[in-house]
Amino acid sequence: MEEITWELFDRQVEACRLCPLCRNIRHKVPGQGDPRSPLMLIGEGPGQVEDEEGLAFVGPAGQLLTKMLEAIRLPRDRVYICNIVKCRPPNNRVPTPEEAEACRIHLRMQTWLVRPKVIVLLGSTAAKSILDPEIRITRERGKWTVRKGVWIMPTYHPSALLRDPAKKAEAWEDMKSLRSRLMSLGLYQDLYSGGR
Ligand code: URA
Repeated sequence: MEEITWELFDRQVEACRLCPLCRNIRHKVPGQGDPRSPLMLIGEGPGQVEDEEGLAFVGPAGQLLTKMLEAIRLPRDRVYICNIVKCRPPNNRVPTPEEAEACRIHLRMQTWLVRPKVIVLLGSTAAKSILDPEIRITRERGKWTVRKGVWIMPTYHPSALLRDPAKKAEAWEDMKSLRSRLMSLGLYQDLYSGGR
């Protein structure tokens, strides 16, 4: 079997035809950031700007995400950011569970390569796909789970915060909880100062 590398990952995503989403896109959006970061953020799927640029979280939601990370003094280029699906769903609709399932092979490979210690799930689609299809983000956000030694926390999607700024107070609590978790795992100082 071929060794799992970033090069193989890129090739597989580019060649992927496992679901219909790739039929109407400009670019695949595999994800980007520090490929060995201890912190991985997973969103839902690319939006219009992401589709145009081939990069995750670079539109309005991405700009808010950058600010949220900066609020706990994490430089965005020190974390790894990706999505449940790598192709933009038409009109930004929520990806179906089948599309998320088809794309899981890529997310698995990505997680294997990054080997994060902490994962933040941005929004209900990521939380449902990774943790529990029945999850209610309003109830479960901010709660930590450990899976195979990895700490996982769902929080609101930045788009939800743009739509409803009243949720920002809870999102801030979640960011502080993330900072505490990184501190207690001895990872914060490194991320913050750019060391390794
Ligand atoms: N929303 C997402 O879930 N992901 C992106 O990359 C952009 C917006």
